[in-house]
Amino acid sequence: MFEPTPGDKFTFGLWTVGWQARDPFGDATRPPLDPVESVHRLAELGAYGVTFHDDDLLAVEPDRDKAIAAFRKALDETGLKVPMATTNLFTHPVFKDGAFTSNDRDIRRYAIRKVMRNLDLASELGAETYVFWGGREGAESDGAKDVRVALDRFREAIDLLAEYVTDKGYGIRFALEPKPNEPRGDILLPTIGHALAFIGSLEHADMVGLNPEVGHEQMAGMNFVHGIAQALWHGKLFHIDLNGQHGPKYDQDLVFGHGDLKSAFFLVDLLENGGYEGPRHFDYKPSRTEDISGVWASAAANMRTYLILKERARAFRADPEVQEALAASRTDQLAVPTLGPGETYEHLAEDDFDVEAAGQRAYHYERLDQLAVEHILGAR
Ligand code: GCO
Ligand code: MN
Ligand code: MN
Repeated sequence: MFEPTPGDKFTFGLWTVGWQARDPFGDATRPPLDPVESVHRLAELGAYGVTFHDDDLLAVEPDRDKAIAAFRKALDETGLKVPMATTNLFTHPVFKDGAFTSNDRDIRRYAIRKVMRNLDLASELGAETYVFWGGREGAESDGAKDVRVALDRFREAIDLLAEYVTDKGYGIRFALEPKPNEPRGDILLPTIGHALAFIGSLEHADMVGLNPEVGHEQMAGMNFVHGIAQALWHGKLFHIDLNGQHGPKYDQDLVFGHGDLKSAFFLVDLLENGGYEGPRHFDYKPSRTEDISGVWASAAANMRTYLILKERARAFRADPEVQEALAASRTDQLAVPTLGPGETYEHLAEDDFDVEAAGQRAYHYERLDQLAVEHILGAR
């Protein structure tokens, strides 16, 4: 039980298990990891696929063609898929003021070229989603950038790249990844809501959706489950980054479920029952304290925790007492349109309504919440 299989569609970024644990205060605690090794180990652990930034492939082999050939061979040997790819537009000093929104026009043009080159590879490897995380698109000072103009440039880049993908006939959709801050003091498109509004302004809005990350919304004090529900409601949940976070602080990128466990439970419940069919992608960082055996243990932990929560969510939904509690809370009534068939606002005046009595009616959500906690704890 709780053994992952490719059918579970678990995927990992090469940069997650491959993170050498360099942080602003300390050097790497682990040697570079060969992407070929990652592909083999992740396949053995039961993953479905891997994802990568262009530069991740060069971790141990600086020659791009050789690195790609070795990566392809490992994919062929293991059957691992590449459902998503992305571009590193943040590590090199050239991107210190952003990529698509750098004040330097030459840099903006270079960034777009870098994305196009990796889109070609992503398409060859069968990727269906291309992620845009604008980690360096932002500022530390409000005087540094006119955000309205920066958004013009951001939109210009995404529109242009959408045109490129369409012209080339690549079957790729874009997924924007919001984050409030880190590494920039303030990042553009900081939350799911900001990104959804931005997408509405794009020329090819239909091919652009979201890749929300658990920790990023929680860093902003947002409810991730609500954010995902709204993204689903807009038909914009194209991909997802699963990990763990303890509230508003630096980006922790913990193992999935190792932050806000109750939120993780309701998230799995929503993903499993809400119509999301994409990969369950883990974007976490094995702690700096771990050696390579700890890296693989943590990779396995992400998948195992997801599967346990999936089982717990199933048990929660199947529990007759939960069903009764949901009905007692009148959760089903929210699905009934507020106006009946044929009614207009004029009919509202006809209601015979006792406002005082309605004010006394309770919702019993505490009972429901306790039932969820007991299912999470395995007490039911
Ligand atoms: C982060 C981000 C990144 C992106 C990745 C793919 O906070 O570091 O989540 O890990 O997801 O660059 O775009
Ligand atoms: Mn993150
Ligand atoms: Mn991410």
